Amino acid sequence: MGGDGGVENGSVRYPVFVELAGRRVVVVGGGAVAVRRLTDLLAAGADVTVIAPSYDPAIAGLDVTIEHREFAPADVDGAVLVLACTDSSRVNAAVAAAAERRGIWCIRADDASRSRAWRPASAQIDDVTIAVSAAGDPTRAAGLRDAIESQLRNGQLGGRRVRRGEDSGRVVLVGGGPGDPDLLTLRGYRALLAADVVVTDRLGPTGLLELLPPDVEVIDVGKTPGGHSAEQQAINQLIIDRAGRGDLVVRLKGGDPFVLGRGSEEVDACLEAGIAVEVVPGLTSAVSAATLAGIPLTERGTTQHFTVVSGHVPPGDDRSSVDWALLAATDATLVMLMAVANLRAIAAALIAGGREASTPAAIVENASLPQQRVITATLGELADVADAQAVVPPAVVIVGDVVRLSD
Ligand SMILES: C[S@@+](CC[C@H](N)C(=O)[O-])C[C@H]1O[C@@H](n2cnc3c(N)ncnc32)[C@H](O)[C@@H]1O
Repeated sequence: MGGDGGVENGSVRYPVFVELAGRRVVVVGGGAVAVRRLTDLLAAGADVTVIAPSYDPAIAGLDVTIEHREFAPADVDGAVLVLACTDSSRVNAAVAAAAERRGIWCIRADDASRSRAWRPASAQIDDVTIAVSAAGDPTRAAGLRDAIESQLRNGQLGGRRVRRGEDSGRVVLVGGGPGDPDLLTLRGYRALLAADVVVTDRLGPTGLLELLPPDVEVIDVGKTPGGHSAEQQAINQLIIDRAGRGDLVVRLKGGDPFVLGRGSEEVDACLEAGIAVEVVPGLTSAVSAATLAGIPLTERGTTQHFTVVSGHVPPGDDRSSVDWALLAATDATLVMLMAVANLRAIAAALIAGGREASTPAAIVENASLPQQRVITATLGELADVADAQAVVPPAVVIVGDVVRLSD
């Protein structure tokens, strides 16, 4: 009641959003309906006067002027909008008549058919306002509003913004997970659907990019394993330039942006350039590859800790800051990323440091993708088996007694 306009009795209603900030709005009535309407009116910045001989205590705490008395027609003077929310249709009719005589829009809460203005079922999601009218049926309008709202929130409806000249661009670093699109977060998916430009890596849910509208620019900056910092600077510059142009740039990265992904360098570069940047976490391959292979990284009675290590430089290399001897001396599960090329040297360093050559180990190649392979061997034989099976990146190497539990 009182809500919803649209098409009724064959006559078409004209939908419009109005600016109420600082404008006088009169609400007649002080019950539960008035309380609900006041929340929205105050959110819109309206200068609200409530006229009611008695009123809900919740109204006393609101930033409104309260006239504690019966309604008089002159109360609507100077208002741009009037809401008749009393439980008396006689009073509501008098309010509507007073507004009508002065050419002021009035919404009647008790009888939509006698209103000259209606409130749609509405919702606000980020910068999108939904307002639904359904031929005078407020329940149907609310149901439609809920359906649209939930589809916007869960990414089924994209809602890409239309670019305006004054829009300022920004960057969203999205952790894409290990590669299966189903393992991208909803927040990441929503960012992708809203993007003007997607700057993508080789890893992550690249299969999703084909589903983007053709006017979304997709730039593949997939680095070869061990890519150089010059490439990274060029990527930083690219996302800054595109955001500087006003674009919403999604920087889609594999796994989590802050796990061996140089995401923090990209954030720093944006901030230094004065570009707004947001980070959406992702499911790191360091954890998900093991789970997808059925290997628990910790297990009561086996080990209480796991360590994630980059194997992109071999043990003993000047560029390595990993203490392999220390890692060898614990019972922690070791999870190694970017370790395929240095597998033989890493296994040798771990055995030299005290890990048994018989320690179970696994390689999870292309975790989550249709071509996922899980190869198991002892630590002592791992490099030979990897060579024999022609293991290639991306792969996660797991060493520890927990590997046995996957059986
Ligand atoms: C530069 S690191 C990026 C890690 C990423 N930020 C993460 O959190 O997963 C690249 C390494 O991640 C691992 N990796 C990423 N995706 C993988 C996948 N689907 N299967 C196996 N390993 C993966 C591999 O070790 C690969 O060499």
